[in-house]
Amino acid sequence: MSGHIPVMLQQMLDTLAPRDGGIYLDGTFGGGGYSAAILERAACTVWAIDRDPTAIERGAELAARFPGRLHLLHGRFGDMLSLLTNAGVTALDGVVLDIGVSSFQIDDPARGFSFRADGPLDMRMGNHGTTAADLVNSLSERELADLLFELGEERASRRIARAIVAARREAPIETTGRLAAIIRAVLPPDRSGIDPATRSFQALRIKVNDELGEIERALHQAVRLLNPGGRLVVVSFHSLEDRIVKRFMADAAGRAPAPSRHAPDSLTARPSPEFNLLTVKPLRPTAAEAAANPRARSARLRALERTARTGPQTGAP
Ligand SMILES: C[S@@+](CC[C@H](N)C(=O)[O-])C[C@H]1O[C@@H](n2cnc3c(N)ncnc32)[C@H](O)[C@@H]1O
Repeated sequence: MSGHIPVMLQQMLDTLAPRDGGIYLDGTFGGGGYSAAILERAACTVWAIDRDPTAIERGAELAARFPGRLHLLHGRFGDMLSLLTNAGVTALDGVVLDIGVSSFQIDDPARGFSFRADGPLDMRMGNHGTTAADLVNSLSERELADLLFELGEERASRRIARAIVAARREAPIETTGRLAAIIRAVLPPDRSGIDPATRSFQALRIKVNDELGEIERALHQAVRLLNPGGRLVVVSFHSLEDRIVKRFMADAAGRAPAPSRHAPDSLTARPSPEFNLLTVKPLRPTAAEAAANPRARSARLRALERTARTGPQTGAP
């Protein structure tokens, strides 16, 4: 199994700007690439969360390399406030989220994320809850079509949903290979080189892990935890995720999309925001990184900073 190559690592570090004595949260520990880089950049402490128990187990080696400076927590970043509060941490100097799945997860057929290798149709990043097979075998044709359309932006969603429902009448769909074959039979490969199963697998993965709900919850909690000058840095890979991050940050920084359709990207400021938007336009990977790491191509980095005037709000509401 190959390792995970951190995406936009240098831009993440430059934006987070960790400093000596600071306390940081890496909400998506994964292969530990971000955590290690933060710990190397400054004499700081990192709390790291991952919902995948195998990522946390793998992290023990990195924690040993930085004695007393890297603390690993198993759980969801959407629960960061309670996870950190229970560990005695109530304020942070920075939070970083690198949304999505790691190469460790995608490259392991047993996890069921990949249409390239056959495996159980699972797709859970954690170790409990509904699997992709549960969804594919239980949702109505209409619900499946809506799911593929909304979370996968799959234009052939209705035809694929119909084929899934027909196939599961023969036998439940239990493997990634069978689901991919059903989709490919409906939607032959085109000249883009993108596997026809890509969008449907993505939609199922987002649903199984409630990824959009997790991001919403995490953003609200992260800003409550930030110290003055503290920064929130989010790297996302999907337009639905990026839209949530973009809107949240613009709103927190007191900016709203311009009403004019002639200036869709311009922003109008409201007075006295508690946060500064550090990225009016998202940062993108360099051409060299995109060429070297196909996973980086769709990455977008957005960041926000709490102004010096305000402080964390983790006390009782
Ligand atoms: C793209 S990888 C992070 C890679 C990491 N930055 C590195 O450099 O190695 C995403 C990781 O976040 C975890 N993850 C995704 N959603 C999560 C959530 N809601 N809560 C906690 N961990 C999550 C996944 O299990 C995966 O290990």
